[in-house]
Amino acid sequence: MYDFFLTEEQRAVRDAAREFAQRELLPGVIERDKEEKFPHEQVKMMGELGFMGMMVSPQYGGGGMDTTSYVLALEEIAKIDASAAVIMSVNNSLVCWGLEKYGTEEQKRKYLTPLAKGEILGAFCLSEPEAGSDATSQKTTAEDCGDYYLLNGVKNWITNGGTASVYLVIAQTYPEKKHKGINVLIVEKGMEGFAVGKKEEKLGIRSSDTHSLMFNNVKVPKENRIGEDGFGFKFAMTTLNGGRIGIAGQALGIASGSYELALKYSKERKSFGKAICEHQAIQFKLSEMATNINAARLLTLHAAKIKDAGLDYVNEAAQAKLLASQVAMDTTIEAVQVHGGYGYVREFHVERLMRDAKITQIYEGTSEIQKIVIAREILK
Ligand code: CAA
Repeated sequence: MYDFFLTEEQRAVRDAAREFAQRELLPGVIERDKEEKFPHEQVKMMGELGFMGMMVSPQYGGGGMDTTSYVLALEEIAKIDASAAVIMSVNNSLVCWGLEKYGTEEQKRKYLTPLAKGEILGAFCLSEPEAGSDATSQKTTAEDCGDYYLLNGVKNWITNGGTASVYLVIAQTYPEKKHKGINVLIVEKGMEGFAVGKKEEKLGIRSSDTHSLMFNNVKVPKENRIGEDGFGFKFAMTTLNGGRIGIAGQALGIASGSYELALKYSKERKSFGKAICEHQAIQFKLSEMATNINAARLLTLHAAKIKDAGLDYVNEAAQAKLLASQVAMDTTIEAVQVHGGYGYVREFHVERLMRDAKITQIYEGTSEIQKIVIAREILK
């Protein structure tokens, strides 16, 4: 795709992410997936290079970049290692963004700065065993006990669950007020009563760590609440709007990574006396992949632009995630098909990308939730 509409800086960020991914993420990506091994060293380097707090202002240790640069970097990282991309995406969009926008000065100095520098990792804790899509049905409680909240409950499928040091936990304080009674609290690893539960064994993004979390009478100081009393659900929803642009970027990377591999392989592999890219059956697949990826990229960059312009981006973010995640799934399935038997074995990467693609249709709002969000926006 032409990139004349990108600034010099955006292109430089994209190229730096591409170079980093090739140099540091590609070696070992198959083993990390196989062994479900968290990329500690690589994430540390991503912090040093400024990828963990890209949009945070420099005064809090961030890169002060725009959402377009963030999407471009995520695409490049996800092309090679979708697990590293989700670790990065959660830290940037779901933890740093909300802390900078709604946190107090004290919270920003104490938590945002090390998170943005990548010195520590953050996790966003909304989902529960019985509250996934139906996020207002929070069972975790944060009882107001004067100068602290007493936190009790269980969170499920939390990205960075085991490795994070800072957790943004959504919990119900006033059940009678429904979603307007929910708060968001900053919980630190090591607080008494907080335990990291079992690590999930996953289909894809296997080197990211996904855990359940248990809170048993955890005393969280009042100053760790973000925003006004009862702001927690709104916090989660507005944070997820931006998160969905990040996941669209990740999905885009999974799609374009598998497409590039399929394109290359189709020029090398011969059947019936010619390169398989000379067969129309393969050409049609490549044409569809390329077209769908460009459509998803344009929609995702459009959502990023709208966000940076300060306009309402709820609809655009949901559309970008809906389309990009579908394109990731479709493209990776076809990339495996182009590779034939080689596509089904580990060393050719496309089977991993196909497994990684599926989660982009599930987390940060399933495709069905995105359709609900889009319908509400276009009908309002
Ligand atoms: N942006 C801003 N505000 C929003 C919003 C959005 N996208 N969606 C809903 N809200 C607000 C509404 O305006 C409403 O506020 P008011 O009462 O002040 O008007 C409030 O939230 C409640 O909304 P609804 O009445 O529409 O509630 P609902 O129950 O009918 O629907 C929902 C809400 C849209 C379905 C919501 O529950 C939702 O988005 N669910 C999906 C949750 C999700 O994305 N989970 C992902 C888990 S995090 C994750 O995956 C992270 C990871 O580790 C990778």
